[in-house]
Amino acid sequence: MNNIIDGIKISTEIRKDIKQIINETKITPALAVIQVGDNKASSIYIKNKKKACEEVGIRFEHIKFNDTISEELVINEIKRLNNDISINGILVQLPLPLGFDEGKIINTISPVKDVDGLTYQNVGNLVLENDCLVPCTPLGVMELLKAYNVRLSGKNVCLVGRSNLVGKPLIQLLLRNDATLSICHSKSLDIKNHTKQADVLIVAAGHPNLITKDMVKDGVVIIDVGINKEGNLLRGDVDFDGVSKKASLITPVPGGVGPMTVACLLKNVVKAYQIQN
Ligand code: GUN
Repeated sequence: MNNIIDGIKISTEIRKDIKQIINETKITPALAVIQVGDNKASSIYIKNKKKACEEVGIRFEHIKFNDTISEELVINEIKRLNNDISINGILVQLPLPLGFDEGKIINTISPVKDVDGLTYQNVGNLVLENDCLVPCTPLGVMELLKAYNVRLSGKNVCLVGRSNLVGKPLIQLLLRNDATLSICHSKSLDIKNHTKQADVLIVAAGHPNLITKDMVKDGVVIIDVGINKEGNLLRGDVDFDGVSKKASLITPVPGGVGPMTVACLLKNVVKAYQIQN
């Protein structure tokens, strides 16, 4: 039985669709990514985003600042990009170095160019179920569930992790699909009590091997959002070897949610272009 969710296959299909839309409508959307400092993981993510953009015909601008730059200059650059009609998407790569006010910087981005869906306006509209730009990783998770016909209505969905980038927006998207939610986090006293009940378990905690096979029920669908570096290897938050024996469907790391995040970013850049034009 093949129970492995193929994020590479699904993301490739999305990228093909986007490339076709861009070719047929003869548009050139553009994405600006702002990086402050030299976070190694961020540099790799940005390189991947650049490659994916250029493959489908999205112009990519990488704006890199030293971590000695002032917050005011970063904000001025965002304001300049807001007013530049040739730029459709603005993304500030996180985390920012210590001392930068993330909320203030993110909320300088014009909501119609906020392809990460992190501004107050997009967060509010997500909660109210209005059309808006939605964070890429949560979108990618929902696309995977849809591609594998995982029904959510009424099901017990357990979410482990409550970050602004993944957990919190997922709460809204899952609720919108009529899931019954239980949300666990670092202060939860008995995670296993919740994960054991889950028909669908989504883990975005950033702890390798947090979920082991004794914590899940037979037939569970597992979405592992974790990306943890161990030497040269990438690992998720789920003990894949053990848990995959009980799961009806499970995402691998790498090759599960990761490629979906990038594909959904491309989708958001095109959506931002369409909102602006
Ligand atoms: N850092 C890790 N993932 C992301 C993401 O999706 N968006 C931004 N802006 N920063 C990140």
